[in-house]
Amino acid sequence: MAVRHFLSLLDLSRDELNALIRRAIELKTMQQRGEIYAPMQNRVLGMIFEKSSTRTRVSFEAGMAQFGGHAIFLSPRDTQLGRGEPIEDTARVLSRMVDIIMIRTFEQEKIESFAAHSRVPVINALTDRYHPCQLLADVQAYVEHRGSIQGKTVAWIGDGNNMCHSYINAALQFDFQLRIACPPGYEPDPAIVARAGDRITLLHDAQAAASGADLVTTDVWASMGQEEEQAVREQAFADFEVDDAVMACAKPDAVFLHCLPAHRGEEVSASVIDGPQSVVWDQAENRLHAQKALMEFLLLGPR
Ligand code: CP
Ligand code: NVA
Repeated sequence: MAVRHFLSLLDLSRDELNALIRRAIELKTMQQRGEIYAPMQNRVLGMIFEKSSTRTRVSFEAGMAQFGGHAIFLSPRDTQLGRGEPIEDTARVLSRMVDIIMIRTFEQEKIESFAAHSRVPVINALTDRYHPCQLLADVQAYVEHRGSIQGKTVAWIGDGNNMCHSYINAALQFDFQLRIACPPGYEPDPAIVARAGDRITLLHDAQAAASGADLVTTDVWASMGQEEEQAVREQAFADFEVDDAVMACAKPDAVFLHCLPAHRGEEVSASVIDGPQSVVWDQAENRLHAQKALMEFLLLGPR
């Protein structure tokens, strides 16, 4: 059977994605009950991080440990990747030693090239273009709190970045409406928007995007790798903070999500992220359960 990768949400079918969310909820219940489920004894996960991480590293590593397997953290600082060994060669070698690999890097092309030379499943743990693992956790959080996301309206407020692109793919795959409000010049990639068709509405006004929404979400104004743009972006995004006025435009039972790390007083007010509509801690926890479901699917098949 051909190796399956998870480089974007488009690599799985709608049915597979929905089954994955159901399985993630199941694995969460099992974990909370203290049930031991260790289907990955003697399996090894390779984790390549070319950018910082708290949630992604800990959730993958803890998830593999709970499954009875092992995880190896690899950074360019102390591997040959940082000294110019080609990504294709690294993929060929690592995939003869480990069973599954996750990568956090810059260019999407890099992870695609890695996957093309890998014998084992490769997971996108964030690139400049996408962050699909985060969307599994986000959809799981919505489903747990409000039920199916199909047909719902989601408001994305902020940068047309990797998270925004993954929300666009999620709108297509999980079948919801997505209203994006970003400053002019910070729109998502038009090709990614076009693929999702009439599910996407592009606006430049945060309150208009949030109007009647079931879910409101945002992300940092300057992503990893854009640190030197912080000051310029603070000015450009000044009108795009998710605050109480923006949340008041959404449905009264709307939930607030943020992939984290968050900057209170920039993209979100403390009153919103620490307020009653915020489910960001459940969302963060779900990285663990959703990625366990993902690794199980890629290595052991559908459950
Ligand atoms: N949301 C997320 O991916 O967090 P980390 O950067 O801490 O992994
Ligand atoms: N857009 C952010 C997401 C961090 C999880 C970044 O790429 O830095």
